[in-house]
Amino acid sequence: MAPIDRLTVMASLPILDKRMENLIVAGAEAGELDWHILSSRSHHFTGSSMQSFGNSILDVVGNTPLVRLSRFGSKVGPTLHAKLESMNPAGSMKDRAAKRMIEDAEKAHDLKPGAQVIVATSGNMGVGMAMVCAVKQYQLYCLVDPKISPATEKCLKLYGAKVIKVYQRDKTGGYHLTRLEVAESLKAQYPDAIYLDQYDSPANMDAHYSSTAPEIYEALDGDIRVIVAVAGTGGSSMGIARYFREHSPETDIWLVDEYGSLALPGNSGVGIRYLNGMGASITPNNYDWPSFDQFVDHVVYVNPGRCINAAVDLARSEGILTGGTGGAAAHVMRDIAAPQYSEGDNLVALLPDHGSRYTDTQFDEEWLTARDIFVPAIHSDEVVK
Ligand SMILES: Cc1ncc(COP(=O)(O)O)c(C=O)c1O
Repeated sequence: MAPIDRLTVMASLPILDKRMENLIVAGAEAGELDWHILSSRSHHFTGSSMQSFGNSILDVVGNTPLVRLSRFGSKVGPTLHAKLESMNPAGSMKDRAAKRMIEDAEKAHDLKPGAQVIVATSGNMGVGMAMVCAVKQYQLYCLVDPKISPATEKCLKLYGAKVIKVYQRDKTGGYHLTRLEVAESLKAQYPDAIYLDQYDSPANMDAHYSSTAPEIYEALDGDIRVIVAVAGTGGSSMGIARYFREHSPETDIWLVDEYGSLALPGNSGVGIRYLNGMGASITPNNYDWPSFDQFVDHVVYVNPGRCINAAVDLARSEGILTGGTGGAAAHVMRDIAAPQYSEGDNLVALLPDHGSRYTDTQFDEEWLTARDIFVPAIHSDEVVK
């Protein structure tokens, strides 16, 4: 075990009070704690005597597990991993971005106590933001579209958010521009209100640059050949890509988008999309256009059936239930990227959220059939009557 250096411990554990600090150092010195994990993680202690601790729920955002997949995919070839962002406290990787966006707005003195915060969201950003606003006592207004899953909508309300559903499609066939109009009218109504635009937000990207990416890097000691991320606002993929370009330029970044999305250049043209969170009906400014080609090595467009099928495969082979966009990342990693890499290469798919949010939508046989989406793993299930 490496010698214990109290200063190093403290630097890596910024959220702890004195009593916890002493316990940790004592535990590490007594050999009861895994020093390596302690030094890289602030609250996921694997030692025998430690529990996770935070002064508020916001202190336990991030530090999600990376899990090796041993049955999903071929037994030969590269080693596959999944980064489980569903383990964030409000259930998705957007918790990281929501926290950072609010903190940055506070630092810039843009947020007055008790003010209204407005976000346009397909679901997860809203839920993350609702958690943060509950802790900090801001009134959140979530502008959502009719595709939001009923479970997500209920969660938003439970956290105290006000949900405004926008039904009118904009000229691109999506809802984003209509949501922006509603945001403007809310701002006119509440002078202290701020609109946080996750599509054009350095904080969204920074959250992943400064936490998600280094967590992946440290978990595999920097030995990562491929990261597969999903394209939405661009916050997660671009934050991670920027970090890896700086720290591990040999890591290939694969980006997955759904047919019908306008998020990326050279897109497949506008169309209806089914996987909440993936794609966009605008091209977000978060994608660093001048350097996009340097950040992203491969772009893959997927159809929802294959992604949902991969999500079900993952649940049944590894016990990991992720949503359709996690299925998209897993599908591209296993079926498209993996055959192009070698034995011993580490591939990582970022799974944005948990599949339980979508039991009545993406994973529901009737919902799928009504949309002509065929998912063999669901449609060919035997029904025992
Ligand atoms: C389930 C899900 N997958 C993927 C994404 C895309 O991530 P990003 O917005 O960071 O590009 C989101 C974003 O909302 C999401 O909620």
